[in-house]
Formats: sequence, C-alpha cells, structure tokens
Amino acid sequence: MKDSSKPELNMEKIVSLARRRGFIFPSSEIYGGLSSCWDYGPLGAEMKRNVKDAWWKAMVHDRDDMVGLDSAIIMHPKVWEASGHLSGFSDPLVDCMDCKQRFRADFIDSKTCPDCSGELTQPRQFNLMFKTFMGPVEDNASIAYLRPETAQGIFVNFANVLNTSRKKLPFGIAQIGKAFRNEITTGNFIFRSREFEQMEIEYFVKPGDDEKLFNYWLEERLSWFTSLGIRKDNLRLRQHQKDELAHYARDCYDIEYYFPMGWSELEGIANRTDFDLKQHSLHSGNELTYFDEETKKHIVPYVIEPSSGVDRTVLALLCDAYDEEPDKNDTRTVLRLHPSISPYKVAILPLSRKEPVVNIARDVYAKLRRFFSTSYDDAQSIGRRYRRQDEIGTPYCVTIDFDTIEDKCATVRDRDSMRQLRIPVEALMTTLQAKLNGEPFEVLPPGGKHWLGF
Ligand code: GAP
Repeated sequence: MKDSSKPELNMEKIVSLARRRGFIFPSSEIYGGLSSCWDYGPLGAEMKRNVKDAWWKAMVHDRDDMVGLDSAIIMHPKVWEASGHLSGFSDPLVDCMDCKQRFRADFIDSKTCPDCSGELTQPRQFNLMFKTFMGPVEDNASIAYLRPETAQGIFVNFANVLNTSRKKLPFGIAQIGKAFRNEITTGNFIFRSREFEQMEIEYFVKPGDDEKLFNYWLEERLSWFTSLGIRKDNLRLRQHQKDELAHYARDCYDIEYYFPMGWSELEGIANRTDFDLKQHSLHSGNELTYFDEETKKHIVPYVIEPSSGVDRTVLALLCDAYDEEPDKNDTRTVLRLHPSISPYKVAILPLSRKEPVVNIARDVYAKLRRFFSTSYDDAQSIGRRYRRQDEIGTPYCVTIDFDTIEDKCATVRDRDSMRQLRIPVEALMTTLQAKLNGEPFEVLPPGGKHWLGF
C-alpha cells in the first residue's frame, strides 16, 4: 500500500461529482448510455481545454525545438500495414463458454471466468483498431481505420514538416487529437475508453543521442505534471519489462499516477528508434531522412516519444484535487485544482439582484471576463454559492454587497484557505491576476494599507 498523506479516495466520489456538477456525463445518456464512451459537460469541456492549452504552451509555444501538427484521423490503410498495427496491435482475448463474457487474458489471474467460474476458451489475438469504409461501397478496397494513436500522422508528415519548418535535429512534432481503440476491457470511468484523446510528441534525435534525450524527456514530462499541481508522491516512473515492450520500442517508461484503483499508466515515454521512419520509407517508397550538415550524410533520426492521454490527465487532476474537510457540522468538498486548470478562475457573487449592487456586479463581471474565465452566480444563499464554487474548483470568489456601494470594495474569498479580504474594486484585476499567476503582489489601497499575505 502506498504511503501517502492523501486520504483513500474512491472513484465513485469523482464520478458523482463529475456528473453532479457538469464535468462528465455518460455518452448518449437518454438512451441508457453507451459503454465506455463519455461526454464532457460545460465544466469538463473547459477543464479539458485548459489541460490541452497547458500542454501546448509548455511543449510547443515555450520551446524553440517544437512545432505543432493537426493531421487527419482517417489515414491511408497502408499506414497501418507499415506501422505494424494491422498485424500486431492486438490484445489476447478469452471468452467464457458459459456466460459468454469476454476478457483480456492478461487482465485476469484465474484460469476460469472471474464472474461465473465457467470454462474459458484458449486466448486468441483481437485487433483493437476500429474498421470502417470510405465512400459508398463496402468492399475490401474501401476499408479504412480510425487511428489508434496520433503518432502515425506525425511520422507520415515528417518530410513535409522538415521541409517547411527547416528545423535542425533534435526537434519535435507535437499533436493533440482523438484516438480510437476497440478495447476488450474498459472501465474505471474515463481511464480506459474506446474513444479518447492523446497529446503526443515525436522528438527526432541523432542516433546515439537517444539515450540522453530519453532521460531528459522522462524528467521534463514528470515536471509538467507537477507544474499542474499534481503531488510528487502520487507520481512514479516504471520501466517496461522486455516482454512488455511494444514492437517498435527499445525502451519505455510509464509515468504512473496513484489512481483510486492503484498505480496505473498516465503517460508512456518510449524510445521508438528509427523503426517508424524506416517502415514508412519502405512501404511508401519515399525516403524519410535528414541531411546532417556536419557529416554531409543522410541519416534516419531516432525518435523519443512522450505520449500522454488527455482524459487520463483530467482524471488524475480531478483525483489529486479532490478533498473533503470538516466545516462546522458538515463536510466541505473542495477541488483544489491548479488555477490554470480550473474551469473558472473567478466567480462574481452579488448579494442582491437589485440595483445598484447588480449594476456593480455586472460591471465587474464584464471587466474580469475579458481576462479570466469568469462565472456569474446570483442563485441561492452566499454559503451555498461558495460551496458550489469550491466543488468545481474556482480559486477566487468576488462578493459584491451593500457596503460596496459606499466603500467601493469587494470581498475576495480564497478557495483553499477560505480567507476573505476587502479589496478596492478598481484593484481587483491586478490583484487577481497576480494571485492566479502565483506572483507576489502589493496593492496600495486608498487607506495606504498593504494587501499582503492573502
Ligand atoms: N503512440 C504511443 C501510444 O499510443 P500508448 O501507451 O498505447 O502509446 C499513450 O498510449 C497514452 O494514451 C496512454 O499513456 C494513455 O494516457 C492514453 N490511452 C491509451 N489507451 C487509452 C484508452 N483506452 N483510454 C484512455 N486513454 C488511453
């Protein structure tokens, strides 16, 4: 059992909060839901977008050695022949001869059905790719696949990107997008689903530099997760055993998170060598090489691949942020999300729906929403409104009350400490901006007091 300061968390609490507050709903719920497919509601859509924006900023915009890509989900079927997915992207499947349920052979310990103890068939390989047809004719010539990873879109565009961006090794191509796998066993909420989103980097390096840069990316990616507020002791690196390695990988580590069901993969970081570029050169007849100015030779770069799941990152962030604490005779549920990830950064809570309070509140709302994702909530008691904002992880609430009319100040409440401070309305923007960016701030209000230590 893991030694952690974090209270034991059960997944039901996360699923329930996500459903109740509009983060994540079962897909097609009015038809009874569709197994292992999920829809992101208003808050989930904001949170997911924040995760992707944080990744894109850190991995693409803040770096000189990375460019982005957005390739098509449906690719030429030969891509999957070359990549080895047609022949090798499969899991071992067993059927129960009594209850007819199917299981992944490597996920069960017993030799009999885990549900009814019935006899199981011999394992057979089941390809995980979703198959479809392009165009109006459903024959073998029109078979196409939904991509099971975004990575191949990067490999087949290697020459296009290299020629247009004129990057020098080492450099990376980053992509965020949907991937589809007809998983045999799904579950644990959004952890394993059939439609999900990946954030992948293919980082091209000179052969020989691969080990050093592989280690560099292990550290880099771990620190990205901690920069979003995930606790270090809930993350670990696990090296793949030789028999676990994918067909293309020389080495691979998983970044694992301590989810409610135990340590599980959040991201994989693999050394894919020159496998993919060579395979696509061979199958397409187009040479995918890089001209090395130093040696004046064409080389096939090696690839380091940090491959992360958007949905698993959302789940890890929700689990890590979830907290319950005693509050008077009740329990306060609070999502201690990093401000960059919270769906709303600020909530404006007017204590009255009448003028002039409502006018001031509307005015503050209009000004702040230009800079932060801001919510306006005037329903129910102030206590319940604070609770609601705590539960969805809003870092700051700004209350406009009757005193605001006279003293031109608003009450700002901090989600984590619940401390409150009166701040001049005209200083709200700078104060909140500094707080949200984690910068030290000092606002000198008319009375000459320093707003420090909040
Ligand atoms: N291109 C390499 C690759 O796809 P992977 O380990 O199979 O490697 C990378 O997948 C990441 O994609 C995983 O670490 C996980 O975060 C996410 N992922 C994979 N299968 C998933 C599924 N069925 N549901 C949700 N996320 C998944």
